[in-house]
Amino acid sequence: MSESVVRIALPPAAAPGYDVRFIAADQLLEGFQRSDALITDTNLARHYPEITDSFDRKVIIPAGEKSKSGEMFLHVVESLAAQGQMRKGRIIAFGGGVVGDLAGYVAASFHRGVPFLQIPTSLLAMVDSSVGGKVGIDLSAGKNLAGAFWHPTEVRVCPDLLATLPEREFTNGMAEILKYGWIADVDLTDELIRERISLQHPRLQGVIRRCIEIKRDVVEEDPEERTGRRAILNFGHTVGHALEQILQYEHLLHGEAIAIGMVAEAQIGAVLGLPDFTGQIKQTFDLYGLPTCPDFPVDLDQILSVMKRDKKATGDGLATSLLTGAGECKLYTNVPEPLVRDVLKSLWHL
Ligand SMILES: NC(=O)c1ccc[n+]([C@@H]2O[C@H](COP(=O)([O-])OP(=O)(O)OC[C@H]3O[C@@H](n4cnc5c(N)ncnc54)[C@H](O)[C@@H]3O)[C@@H](O)[C@H]2O)c1
Ligand SMILES: [Zn+2]
Repeated sequence: MSESVVRIALPPAAAPGYDVRFIAADQLLEGFQRSDALITDTNLARHYPEITDSFDRKVIIPAGEKSKSGEMFLHVVESLAAQGQMRKGRIIAFGGGVVGDLAGYVAASFHRGVPFLQIPTSLLAMVDSSVGGKVGIDLSAGKNLAGAFWHPTEVRVCPDLLATLPEREFTNGMAEILKYGWIADVDLTDELIRERISLQHPRLQGVIRRCIEIKRDVVEEDPEERTGRRAILNFGHTVGHALEQILQYEHLLHGEAIAIGMVAEAQIGAVLGLPDFTGQIKQTFDLYGLPTCPDFPVDLDQILSVMKRDKKATGDGLATSLLTGAGECKLYTNVPEPLVRDVLKSLWHL
């Protein structure tokens, strides 16, 4: 090696694995210590004062996506430091994806990294955001633009917590659940179509578990989003994210946006000669009360220009994950823009 270079060799940094445990409501607080600090939002604090009151150290953030900000990140780390939170104490994230992403990013940087435990409380957080180690905040330039891979040491899933979740938020989570079926598990799709899974349905926990297993399998293959495998989780998201962005993350919930996106991307696949699931997907969203088409005016040029900047894009055309069969999905790059334009125009009657 040249005399002007000093090489620093580092061991491969693999995070240890962790368990996702299903637990009853009365086990939620088991094993917590005085050194642990809770991060939650105002809605959860209102519904579950017995949880919030059990922690000496806590930060309660305003509910909603706006809290996933740089300002709130600083507020949380400053509050923890002011409360004397130490390096060994764990951060407990009790909330939906907003709390989980923000608290995880706090855990990744506070004292240069402290252990954190996720207790997801929304259906979306149970089946998606609490698993996989992606944490972060939004910047003015876009969503999730500052972040890290920082895995929890444990995830506790308690479906009883969903009893207080607003119905629209439950349906929002169902969109991701339906997505898992189409991208990876025909039996799951069949089950979800046969009978509508509601909060009271005895199979709800089994369905949540199956989704976590599917996400686990994908994340184990591509833990830090390097091989492209993780892109299958993005079915419906190229169009969905573009819709969310042009609406500035208002009016449509994420699950609603990706539901419209899944219909559109199914049709894009069909036009490209892949098996056509558009009809089945639309029918299922009707059953679950999810939208299949925007009910607001859409500027096609604007949506296509956002889609071109999608993180999956590599070449000239658009990049989108498409269904290649029942329970199978693959990332396609260089999908011709005129084709996507025609599909959206006819599907959305533009
Ligand atoms: N890290 C990841 O891999 C990943 C994956 C998907 C989504 N996300 C992120 O997750 C966020 C969306 O998560 P979300 O849909 O959970 O949103 P959220 O955290 O804003 O929760 C939705 C609403 O439901 C309320 N709520 C949650 N649980 C409740 C309960 N049990 N009872 C009553 N009210 C409850 C919240 O207070 C909030 O008002 C986005 O910021 C998204 O970027 C991250
Ligand atoms: Zn999603």
